[in-house]
Amino acid sequence: MITLHRPRYHFLPPRHWMNDPNGLIHWRGRYHLFYQHNPFGPTWGVMHWGHAVSADLVHWQHLPLALAPTPGGPDQDGCWSGCAVDWAGTPTLVYTGVRPEVQCLATGEGQDLLVWRKHPRNPVIAGPPAGLEVTGFRDPYVWREGEGWRLVLGSGFPGRGGAALLYRSPNLLDWEYVGPLCQGEASRLGHNWECPNFFALGGRYVLIISPQPLGKAVYITGDYAADRFTPLVEGDVDSGGSLYAPQVMVDAQGRRILWGWLREGRSREACEEAGWAGVMSLPRLLTLLPDGRLSAQPVPELQALRRRSVRWGPCTLAGSLPLEGLSGDGLELYITIALGSAEGVALAVRRSPGGEEETRFIYDRNAGTLRCDRSRASLSPHQDRTPYEGCYPLQGDRLTWRVFLDASVIELYADGHTCLTTRIYPERPDSLGLALEALGGEARLEALEAWEMAPIWPANGSL
Ligand code: FRU
Repeated sequence: MITLHRPRYHFLPPRHWMNDPNGLIHWRGRYHLFYQHNPFGPTWGVMHWGHAVSADLVHWQHLPLALAPTPGGPDQDGCWSGCAVDWAGTPTLVYTGVRPEVQCLATGEGQDLLVWRKHPRNPVIAGPPAGLEVTGFRDPYVWREGEGWRLVLGSGFPGRGGAALLYRSPNLLDWEYVGPLCQGEASRLGHNWECPNFFALGGRYVLIISPQPLGKAVYITGDYAADRFTPLVEGDVDSGGSLYAPQVMVDAQGRRILWGWLREGRSREACEEAGWAGVMSLPRLLTLLPDGRLSAQPVPELQALRRRSVRWGPCTLAGSLPLEGLSGDGLELYITIALGSAEGVALAVRRSPGGEEETRFIYDRNAGTLRCDRSRASLSPHQDRTPYEGCYPLQGDRLTWRVFLDASVIELYADGHTCLTTRIYPERPDSLGLALEALGGEARLEALEAWEMAPIWPANGSL
């Protein structure tokens, strides 16, 4: 396995392929994280559920595989995405078996939930309702409601667009189709929705979907009562083109925490050569903004990873300011800038001394956007250079960014309402520099603090 570009404080399996986070649950004081995993290689294949446990949301320990396909069973071609619930004191996974796509249960045993038994009644949902033609039928997300249970499935109606299908059950075993909880137009929101999440937040409800073929996660906030959802506000969960199929969990403090799969931004050959693919985002604390938009911030627990720090500012930003003395590929940055007369601000990271390699994040005040420019992120032909940009409406004059650099992962959280996550694969060992630039005017760097970040794995590593 090639460890160059391998993150050190983002979760990922010991080796091979990972995609969606699954079955997130806080159980008896510990966080359990499951994930779509191909244990045989660094590309998508026959899906299993990988498993890891954490006491603090930050440091992880790998555990043995939780689910594997059962030959001759309803999941014989793969254990696809799903969630976890507390079923009257028993931790229970609700997931999609293939093929065709059906819904299954597995119950956990033991202190560490190392043993998972598939339920004899599987599949508990054997297919779409009679006569309903769908583009997909997978990724159950389950919650308690009143005396019973509700579940949404990712789906879509051919020729019309993606949909989240709502089911109800008195006992988690017998399910009745209620109808579409929400549906979209194919031209705008894709033909099939994957990995729906649906939950209450800040007095409203939030639906998160991953529409195919958009390749990004979208949230819709609105009202919900009597099995009906009224959408009000819509936006991107992350604008960087990497985060997909997120899952939201609730923990003991009642916090809603989102994890997303960060797809690679390099070729399949590069993944095969590396021996691994797929990283989890940092855990993100969700809140609802007064205008109905979704806010995501890194959880405070991540501060435990901060080590040696360096400070800059306050100082004037006119043109480019190379941040000499500050370099690295495992850093957190906290930056506050007063824009003054500037029309924008650019942050360059992973920059080689001559600028042959660098990744730039650009705030454009007139356009109200945040853009990521990867055109020179790497000298390698395997680097994906697609530019991404998100809507970044700034109130007032000051911007506050938190930026996490971790080898091939960069997560930028802008003012608590715009997230941009990307993947980069610089080739040069000296591509570690940083620079800030005021564009078209003069700004003021109020403060920049940078921390070196510690790895999240115990010294004895993985299993
Ligand atoms: C989303 C997805 C899900 C499916 C899983 C299979 O990335 O396609 O819809 O359950 O991955 O690995």
